[in-house]
Amino acid sequence: MFTPTIEWINGRIRLIDQTLLPNEFKQIYCDEVSEIWQAIKTLKVRGAPAIGIAAAFGTVLGIWHSTADNYADFEIELKNITDYLSTSRPTAVNLFWALKRMVKVAQENQSLTVPELKERLLTESLEIMSEDQQMSRSIGKYGAGLIENGDNILTHCNAGGLATSDYGTALAVMFSAHEMGKQIHVYADETRPLLQGARLTTWELMRAGIDVTLICDSVAGQVMKEGYIQRVVVGADRIAANGDTANKIGTYLKALAAKDNNVPFYVALPSSTIDWNIKNYKDIPIEERNSEELSHIEGLDDNGQVKKIQIYPQKSKSMNLAFDITPAKYVTALITEKGICKATTKGLEDLFNK
Ligand code: MRU
Repeated sequence: MFTPTIEWINGRIRLIDQTLLPNEFKQIYCDEVSEIWQAIKTLKVRGAPAIGIAAAFGTVLGIWHSTADNYADFEIELKNITDYLSTSRPTAVNLFWALKRMVKVAQENQSLTVPELKERLLTESLEIMSEDQQMSRSIGKYGAGLIENGDNILTHCNAGGLATSDYGTALAVMFSAHEMGKQIHVYADETRPLLQGARLTTWELMRAGIDVTLICDSVAGQVMKEGYIQRVVVGADRIAANGDTANKIGTYLKALAAKDNNVPFYVALPSSTIDWNIKNYKDIPIEERNSEELSHIEGLDDNGQVKKIQIYPQKSKSMNLAFDITPAKYVTALITEKGICKATTKGLEDLFNK
């Protein structure tokens, strides 16, 4: 049931093109590093952990045809490739985490020949993916312990299998609770402007047989006020060492509404999403995307063809911030592969033995 979001198949990267879902399920191949850069940039592959895995495989694609015959030349090429991939998107730290890990493994294996180094980098990228699969399942198991039978859970954006290698973070909690036999119902925020909640989260939950209701973003506060929601569970793109959380734009408002209505607000994340180098949110770069994503909407016309239409007056100004910060004080707890902790520096450091 959990289709791999991204795979390495005979020297090629295969991705589910997430821009086409739910109207079309299509797997595409990337053969060049520029194609994977473009796929990340345009959100064909998206979600913090999936971006990290894609960047690791992209590094292998880029270095595979290297003609270097010594380590120094090989490292220069490798760094050029990882620097290039690091420009694809700025907020999800998993991208930089995976790229640094690829460079480090090469540096630690300088005694290998260039063909051996290439194989070693491929092994590392496959390990990054397999660790992600294990972390997702562990997050699901820990998080499901917080879910009670009959809960209505609100989620924002898509932190499901599509945002990771196959099982998700926030949605892993729901998949796991459902697999344990707990009755749950999920409210999915549509997540303007790119509708990851409407297009991807509802699609994934329905495939898993989980009851889901789509709401538009601005409804979330009201359903909390009316007492419909027992818990909010979201993913993250980057968590500072103190638990401040960057996630899809709109998450902060959900956290405020949750606080005001005494609804627990959980953030589910693998450790690859923690940026230990930054003390708090101030150093988290927030991506600003093309305002056409805001000013135009896409749909299918009567012939089933994708059609884009403009929904605002021409020349009107717009601003398209892709992420926001939820201060740690609004996060009830963090759900990680190592267990559950407070969203504080101490909580994170104790759990990860830092
Ligand atoms: O712009 P996107 O679709 O890449 O944003 C994704 C999110 O904000 C997710 O909530 C986050 O990456 C967590 S994924 C497990």
